Amino acid sequence: MNFLDRNEFNFKPSQKVIDAIKSFDPETLCFYTRIYDEGKKSVVSVRLSEIYGVPEEQVLLGYGGEDILKNTVHYYLSKGDNNTIMIPQFSWWYYNRIAGECGGTFEMYPLYETGDTFAYDVDEVIAYANRIHPRMVLLASPNNPTGNSLTSEEIGRIADNVPSDTMILVDEAYASFITSDVDYIAPLVNKHHNLIISRTLSKFYGLPGLRMGFGFIGKGNEDFLNYANKYLGYNRFSEAVALAALESDEHYRNVANDMEWDRQLFKSELGNLPGFKVYKSVANFILVKYPVAIKEKLQEELKAQNYKIKFMTDKGLEDCLRITLGRREQIQVVVDTIKRIATAL
Ligand SMILES: Cc1ncc(COP(=O)(O)O)c(C=O)c1O
Repeated sequence: MNFLDRNEFNFKPSQKVIDAIKSFDPETLCFYTRIYDEGKKSVVSVRLSEIYGVPEEQVLLGYGGEDILKNTVHYYLSKGDNNTIMIPQFSWWYYNRIAGECGGTFEMYPLYETGDTFAYDVDEVIAYANRIHPRMVLLASPNNPTGNSLTSEEIGRIADNVPSDTMILVDEAYASFITSDVDYIAPLVNKHHNLIISRTLSKFYGLPGLRMGFGFIGKGNEDFLNYANKYLGYNRFSEAVALAALESDEHYRNVANDMEWDRQLFKSELGNLPGFKVYKSVANFILVKYPVAIKEKLQEELKAQNYKIKFMTDKGLEDCLRITLGRREQIQVVVDTIKRIATAL
């Protein structure tokens, strides 16, 4: 099966990752890590602290980015009497689910379609947050499925201007696709005690099956850090693989660069067909508006060729497809199939 429906990685892991798996000593698993004797969480949080320049105490680790998001949302919405969270109107369905799980009240704030992209209205987010004073504001950059992102200045402006007891959670699961620059993170979390940035090895580093997420939080959130930390350490096998992935930026950057070919193919082949709109993509997926009249036929034909893409069902995006950017030959099949069915209408 060709899975192009969940923004996974249809390429090969780096050689360093393969080597780390092959050379892993199984006896390592006979013992807990001892790094907590040094007051640290994990060899991975130590390495992330070096790479991102954020103190190790402020590094978060989790079972995928989903775990970081769930822990933060559950923790902050369950404490005290303010359980309101602002969530982008079009976004990953899981945000609503975790807010709902702990009785959170969510307020959707709008994203605006402009040209071939969607955009946050930063001033409106700030005004909205000052009006309703939520416990949390969730931002996703790049956002799934719309693909739009925020600059570090915009994140800083939001953090400067929302109430200081509102926690700002920025889901940056796809951020490494935009830039390898991570230097903006330390100044932001140093300045804002109420800022959390969540990342993952599942997307750019192509290891969704490893379940390794990480994040950074502003100073002074010891209670949350104690709550989120694992007393007896983290999965030592995953730690070894994660360290190798973090040393493999060149491999993963080459893969990410190659996705530009996919984007151009979508644009050139589908961009001008009636009823289609190919949105700007900066992550490892692309959003395509299509004539829904072809939905059933398209589902059938893709299934027959063992391909899965995401037919959006979110309110307002029912006429869109979200397709993971995969290997060239896979994207060629998807584009050819869509084009063939659409032009036979
Ligand atoms: C926007 C967004 N954030 C976070 C995640 C979490 O992924 P993981 O738990 O594999 O790190 C996903 C996965 O698809 C996602 O789309």
